[in-house]
Amino acid sequence: TTVPKFVIGNWKMQARHEHGLQLARDIAHGMKEAPPPAHLHTIICPPFTQLDGVHQALKEVCLPHEQLALGAQDCYPASSGPFTGDISAPMIRDMGARYVILGHSERRQNHGETDAVIRQKVKAATAAGLTPIVCIGEHLAERNEGRAASVLSTQIEGSLTRGFRGIVAYEPVWAIGSGITPSREELQRKLQLIRALLPMRLMTDDIRVPVLYGGSVTSVQAPSIMSIEAVDGVLVGSASLEARSFLDIIGAAA
Ligand code: G3H
Repeated sequence: TTVPKFVIGNWKMQARHEHGLQLARDIAHGMKEAPPPAHLHTIICPPFTQLDGVHQALKEVCLPHEQLALGAQDCYPASSGPFTGDISAPMIRDMGARYVILGHSERRQNHGETDAVIRQKVKAATAAGLTPIVCIGEHLAERNEGRAASVLSTQIEGSLTRGFRGIVAYEPVWAIGSGITPSREELQRKLQLIRALLPMRLMTDDIRVPVLYGGSVTSVQAPSIMSIEAVDGVLVGSASLEARSFLDIIGAAA
């Protein structure tokens, strides 16, 4: 059987309402014109405020959700309660989303999210029927000091639940928004390491959890990144904000 592949667009706090709707429509129409193979799953993750609008816009184009699905960028660890300003996993599910990005380095950094908090969010997301996309990755200093392996091991053990079922995205912090991507050799080595570490949380050797790469992916680098055997897909930031470049990445992954 063919291994499923993923292209995920993380819009972050970008694209205002009308722009987001148009972007979603353009991506969906582009995919309709040039349908990717069935094993390729595309997911777009707009800000919370756009989930419903984008969901409605995608419905009009009528692509199966296996092909193009909706995801959020975070969720709260509890399912409801007096938590002003927060959004729960069931609320996200209500908006038609099927995935949620958790533990992005921007949240770890700007909101002090710890592995323990991320693990609680993974639990909440899974309970609500969302597939978690958990981000891990080392900082530049950690890499240069030769500590990447121990950082990744700690993040995997700390932020994934026992029996985790979801997606892991390896995003070296130094590659995000920098225009720098790891060399083929480094990426291959890191992904193999992550794959070797995963069974301690999955509680089985038999499941291939999709492991994606993220950090400065553009349509130029995508073909070479996707050709690495250990890479099951890409998590795209800036290049997901423009329909043509995102469609080209989907094309490269197909
Ligand atoms: O979630 C996406 C990543 O942080 C990558 O962002 O493609 O803009 O470097 P970027």
